[in-house]
Amino acid sequence: METKVYAIDAKCPEFSSLARAAEVIKSGGLVAFPTETVYGLGANGLNPSAVAKIFKAKGRPSDNPLILHIADSFEVEKLVRLVPANARVLMEKFWPGPLTLVLKRTLAVPDEVTGGLDTVAIRLPDSLVARELIRLAGVPIAAPSANTSGRPSPTTAQAVLADLDGKISIVVDAGPCGIGVESTVVDCTTPVPTLLRPGGVTLEKLLAVLGEIELDAALNSESAVPRAPGMKYTHYAPLAPMVLYEGDESNISAAIVNAATIAMTSKRVGAVVSTETAALLPPKVAVAAYGSRQCPEEVAAGLYQALRAFDSNPVDVIYAEGIAEIGLGLAVMNRMRKAAGYRIVNC
Ligand code: TXA
Ligand code: MG
Repeated sequence: METKVYAIDAKCPEFSSLARAAEVIKSGGLVAFPTETVYGLGANGLNPSAVAKIFKAKGRPSDNPLILHIADSFEVEKLVRLVPANARVLMEKFWPGPLTLVLKRTLAVPDEVTGGLDTVAIRLPDSLVARELIRLAGVPIAAPSANTSGRPSPTTAQAVLADLDGKISIVVDAGPCGIGVESTVVDCTTPVPTLLRPGGVTLEKLLAVLGEIELDAALNSESAVPRAPGMKYTHYAPLAPMVLYEGDESNISAAIVNAATIAMTSKRVGAVVSTETAALLPPKVAVAAYGSRQCPEEVAAGLYQALRAFDSNPVDVIYAEGIAEIGLGLAVMNRMRKAAGYRIVNC
């Protein structure tokens, strides 16, 4: 299959390209499209055989449920049995935006979407391109991140093509995604909502609105089984083994410079680090800088590109710099620990 790229303006999407992409969705095909978080791999979320194609293209385990993307809040009513008061508050406050809500599903939602669970994850994206595509398709669009399972999520159309060229009909290219990490997933079926995956809406913002929120046990323990099935898989991993340095800012920098300087005598060394640390590394180290460590938004937006930087410039080992778990830093560190397969050095 030839994958076509439709380049469109994110702010003023051209109708005819999106209409063609929507036709592909309607007829049961796959379309990769931008959202404000990462690119998604979309199919008609009410058509089981279309949804099955997503799992095949990504090599995704079938027990890992998908998010249904909708274009207007009212569309949630057909898909869920009940919208509890706290979910209603979250929708009003954060939709459209990078927040996914897990709710009790109706029979309108195919088992293929939910992996057989009695809940469904729903999100109303802020991206105008995404919402126009959903509107034109006239159905909820089931979409995971548009990467091969286990790889870093794509934040550009080029990253989508690197994984899925030839496996999907269309990539709608509206340039790089603004946020750069996936949506926050909150389970609203528990008396107190539970954070299953940190993401684009920060924990601080959720707390300010809800007053209280539980954290899924698996967020702070490697051994607990996560309630978001996708959180149990190794994910976001670059091709070379990665070691993550966490702790005090200046200790991390010094430790990475030291480790890289020693390793580069016998290995090709890569570094996924802040611009601050990048400036201290010897020239022989291949550096992918994700932005300033003082600005978690910048780090989130640059992280997945940095994790993919060594795909075309292979190295033997990657040293990565952690940041403070404040704001988007919580989601960034969650992804970096998985990308490192929990090889962590505490500084
Ligand atoms: O920002 C995002 O959320 C992107 C864009 C494309 O919207 N999508 C995305 O999808 O990250 P995916 O499939 O890569 O991650 C969805 C996560 C997985 O961890 C999955 O297990 C969890 O949401 N999830 C989906 N349905 C669920 C459910 N019913 N209960 C618990 N977790 C669920
Ligand atoms: Mg994903």
